[in-house]
Amino acid sequence: MISLLIFLCIAALFNTVTAGKHDIYSGYSVHGVQLRDRADQKVLYDLQIELGVDVWDHGAPGVNDALVMVTQENVAEFLEKLDENGMNHYLQISDVATAFERYDRELSSWKQSRTNRMLFDNYPTYEEVDAYLERIAAEYPNIVTLVNAGPSFEGRPVKYLKISSSYFNDTYKPVYFLDATMHAREWVTLPVALYTIHRLVENPRDQDRDLLENIDWIIMPIERLWRRTRSFNASVTTECWGVDANRNFDVNFNTIGVSSDFCSNTYPGQVAFSEPETRYVRDILLENIDRIQLYLNVHSHGNYVLFGYGNATLPTNVVQLHHVAAAMGAAIDARKLPQARYYLIGNSNMALYGSSGSAQDYGQLVGVPFSYTLELPGYTYGFLVPPQYINQINMETWEGIAASARLANLYYRARNSN
Ligand SMILES: *[C@@H]1O[C@H](CO)[C@@H](O)[C@H](O)[C@H]1NC(C)=O
Ligand SMILES: *[C@@H]1O[C@H](CO)[C@@H](O)[C@H](O)[C@H]1NC(C)=O
Ligand SMILES: *[C@@H]1O[C@H](CO)[C@@H](O)[C@H](O)[C@H]1NC(C)=O
Repeated sequence: MISLLIFLCIAALFNTVTAGKHDIYSGYSVHGVQLRDRADQKVLYDLQIELGVDVWDHGAPGVNDALVMVTQENVAEFLEKLDENGMNHYLQISDVATAFERYDRELSSWKQSRTNRMLFDNYPTYEEVDAYLERIAAEYPNIVTLVNAGPSFEGRPVKYLKISSSYFNDTYKPVYFLDATMHAREWVTLPVALYTIHRLVENPRDQDRDLLENIDWIIMPIERLWRRTRSFNASVTTECWGVDANRNFDVNFNTIGVSSDFCSNTYPGQVAFSEPETRYVRDILLENIDRIQLYLNVHSHGNYVLFGYGNATLPTNVVQLHHVAAAMGAAIDARKLPQARYYLIGNSNMALYGSSGSAQDYGQLVGVPFSYTLELPGYTYGFLVPPQYINQINMETWEGIAASARLANLYYRARNSN
């Protein structure tokens, strides 16, 4: 199922699609499922593993319904299991292929109505992102330093920017570290990272000058272009490539919310930090640990700001963690589209599901006071957010980033004045 989704994603990204491209989805349907409590969430989570259904939206008990895509073959069994557990459900999309064709028509009318699109208004390629980072570093040498962390498994450089008005050596400033595309099919995370660079460096507005004056930034827009990493180790398996990078960090490694199936999207790898991409993130965190005040690991989708731990134990600073996350969510909500849901703030286990080895938990464990997973909106599109929404998501998310940066900065001052 996931491979079908990825196929569709690739086709859409490179615009190499032909007529009838959505035929593979013919007969797929999407069902809304009402969640009453954590037991219902568990039923859904187990069905995801048991039947391989694709959860578009995890929902939240009593707040948002879950959305699940099923095939013609497993729809009957899926609905039967829901009925057995007394869970209410309804048909949201009767035929996914038809729905995608409608999205395509919306997209082409949007394309015709626009010219001069900016890089971050669309889904850029690796080469375009690379050229953008190089250009920004060359044009703004006094505030931007380009760092090449090293090669990805496939040999492409993984680059990030250090952005600072004081050569990154003023210890009175906190560091805000943002990374995107750790799960790369979550493509909309990439434009958000690029737009953040744009607003900090290329187009800073007067009202936002404090963000660069008071805070240093590390932004890593592109880790890779797949849900799983691209590593291959024939002594482990010849069936599937890669691991789930967001289960590969050394925190409660390989305990909950992981699959031992090499081909699963939650396979954590044989050992923690087996992947170069996760090691780069680890190294950035550890190198800057004295000053990183907030780490934002950007994902999509579902409108959540989540914090640790994935085993449901709350960090000791949970009140402050919740405070900053709520400020971020509220700032985004103030600019959201009417049809978008409100951001939900909470512990990742209690709000969604159990996990281990996540970047968010690792940041928290090694001492980042505010370590978060941000789940951007998917509206009704899930991972496949059409590009006409990118600009909206960029702008609203920027408001959340700015609000969280300011508040985290106040906490940093308080921490350092003691
Ligand atoms: C910070 O870095 C700049 C540029 O490398 C250097 O000129 C300056 O002396 C440094 N300041 C401190 C306090 O280390
Ligand atoms: C491949 O996996 C084996 C078994 O876990 C491990 O010993 C070896 O170091 C791995 N090779 C690479 C290149 O990661
Ligand atoms: C959950 O994980 C954290 C971080 O590793 C740890 O400190 C805590 O003891 C764990 N809680 C349980 C119940 O295992």
